[in-house]
Amino acid sequence: MNDEFGFNLWRYNGAPGELIPLLQSAQNHFGYIPRRAINYISAVTGIPESEVYGVITFYSQFRLQPMGKYVIRACNGTACHVSGAEMIIEAIQDELGVEVDGTTEDGIFTLNTVACIGCCSLAPVIMINESTHGSLTPASVRKIIRRYKRNEKVSTKDLTTRR
Ligand code: FES
Repeated sequence: MNDEFGFNLWRYNGAPGELIPLLQSAQNHFGYIPRRAINYISAVTGIPESEVYGVITFYSQFRLQPMGKYVIRACNGTACHVSGAEMIIEAIQDELGVEVDGTTEDGIFTLNTVACIGCCSLAPVIMINESTHGSLTPASVRKIIRRYKRNEKVSTKDLTTRR
């Protein structure tokens, strides 16, 4: 049985480990786990909302907020770490006003850290969606972020003038 959220509820028979697949279904459906999905899962399973929330916050795979339009994955693996990844991450945080795993208030940027992107020779490296940016300095990463911000303003303006 699939419900309106696309949850495979027919699989649910009350075993403790079955909460995880339900949460994964919710996240696949919405891109994150909204409040109403938590309410619904709690009602269907009888697991208190506080417990559902506890499981969500325990596992880093789950998100309570939607991802931004641009997802920045800042590498903090060994090669990047020794090449100054911390300074790069701090510059991004400062430029966007978000913490790691946070999304800007306008929903445009999400900042995550990862263990290795697989191009260590370019350390320190970040990816913004599918684009890789390497050999970064705090100044160059700020420039890149500002370029994305500028482009975003232009495309938002384009949309408003087309209406
Ligand atoms: S450690 Fe950063 S790309 Fe490998």
